[in-house]
Amino acid sequence: MARENWTSSIGFILASAGSAIGLGNIWKFPYVAGVNGGGSFVLVYVLCVVLVGLPVMSAEMLVGRHTRRNVINAMGKIEQSSPRSLMRYVLSALALAVAAILFIQQAWILAVAVVVAAAALAWKGFSVLGWICTGVALAILSYYAVVGGWIVDYLWRAICGSLCLAGETTAEAARDSGVVFQAYVGNPWRVLIGFCVFMALTGAVILGGIQAGIERVSKVLMPALFVLLVVVVVRGVTLPGAWAGVVFLLKPTVVGFTPHVILMALGQAFYSLSLGMAIAVTYGSYLHRGHNILRAAGWVGVLDTVAALLGGLAIFPAVFAAGLDPSAGPGLIFGALPATFSAMPWGNFWAACFFFMLLIAAVTSSASLLECGATVFVERVRRRHGRGSRKVAVLTGFGLCVAMGLLSVWSTADWACTPNLKAWVKGGCGSLALDSWFDTLDNFASYWVLPFTAMGIALLVGWVWTPRRAAQELLAADEEAKLPRRWLIFGHYILPDWAQSRKGFPLLLMVVWAVLIRWVAPIAIVLIFLNSTGILSFTGRSTSAQSASETVSAENRER
Ligand code: PHE
Repeated sequence: MARENWTSSIGFILASAGSAIGLGNIWKFPYVAGVNGGGSFVLVYVLCVVLVGLPVMSAEMLVGRHTRRNVINAMGKIEQSSPRSLMRYVLSALALAVAAILFIQQAWILAVAVVVAAAALAWKGFSVLGWICTGVALAILSYYAVVGGWIVDYLWRAICGSLCLAGETTAEAARDSGVVFQAYVGNPWRVLIGFCVFMALTGAVILGGIQAGIERVSKVLMPALFVLLVVVVVRGVTLPGAWAGVVFLLKPTVVGFTPHVILMALGQAFYSLSLGMAIAVTYGSYLHRGHNILRAAGWVGVLDTVAALLGGLAIFPAVFAAGLDPSAGPGLIFGALPATFSAMPWGNFWAACFFFMLLIAAVTSSASLLECGATVFVERVRRRHGRGSRKVAVLTGFGLCVAMGLLSVWSTADWACTPNLKAWVKGGCGSLALDSWFDTLDNFASYWVLPFTAMGIALLVGWVWTPRRAAQELLAADEEAKLPRRWLIFGHYILPDWAQSRKGFPLLLMVVWAVLIRWVAPIAIVLIFLNSTGILSFTGRSTSAQSASETVSAENRER
């Protein structure tokens, strides 16, 4: 069966932006920016997106488009282009180093898993990295969908008109909505319903395939998302007292440009652009030659950053107008924001707009996570067994995620109902174990596995495939530009001969890209890893990097 393609560059860009724009933009970015220096953080963040995020994203897209295969086969194929490369051993050694750190932190089970992965990498090479990317995408989906389920539930309440707490002062409403939220997550059966609805929505998007599913949905939903964001922003900033929120988000503060701020910005950029899960490899594999990848990546970066800034402007003005604590952090959306809606005329209507917008952002992100696994399933199972349809792939992914998600749902509700799991997690994950399976999985996947897979991709493209060969793929799209001769000379070391003879391509961009993917990205990733795992800690480290779930569990503990 012929492989599908995106019908247009716009479709590809919107689908990729759909993956990138998610909860990370709407709740995480504003909060992290607010605590880490406002305006100066935003500036550093933009630099990180441009200098590290976009080169890695375009590298992923190039791998996908060049091989036109699922992640596992794609990575294996790229590696075959340099049969004598020793990079797989370098990556394997890095994995062993990670395992050693895990052993020191007494996370026995995780350490053993990483040692096994290191051995497999040394033995089988980069296709194992593809397996790891697929696995981590499904694991992340299993708890991302739990938050998605919360959104579904809150949207439902707003539509039914029961979200806003009428007749209370804002302070009372804030306290009570916190209580309502705690009672809600403490009821696993109800959370499970939202979770399944959310997973079903995700599955429905994927079921249609690339053109009729993801592309069509993204083309409608992404513009709708931006319209809704603007509507909510306008509502937010016109509330009395809202200006303080704008100032909180954007005004540079004394925190300035410390190493900690820079690393927070880098980590946030990686998370927000959905890097390290080979999503861009998967999406890129459905891309025709002839589309300009650097331009597409640039657009995704711009849309993602604009969405993050709008997300901040949607939330903080309303929070300040209602006199709530902005550092309630990630739990803010469910625990506190309903109070600001309660204080507005037509509160339930605005709340419904807000949660609907959040739902769009979350569904398009989770669809990209599921698509990774679906592509792998369809292509590998069909090759081996001669059958394997998208429907079966989606159902299998659905089943796996629901099975894993149950652990998240129940452990967030109450560890006490899952004593064995609790003991297992506490015993096996050492100091990585947090207060629930949800938190522990998030902690391990986001801060340990993702930097590792992103590093693997940077090594694969920068050192195995090499920018020289990757350039041939990049140049598949015709570009018109004239550059000074000195860049041609510089480019001589990086570009294939035939590309140099075609002076039309912006060599400057190529040279810069090569340096970024080979040197800057790997070094930056190591620093993010050391920072986010606490190995390299700077003074003034705030708790802003903590996940939504950590806040939830902190609240659980208080209960
Ligand atoms: N990039 C998404 C966001 O900003 C988060 C995400 C990470 C989504 C990984 C999918 C996969 O929220």
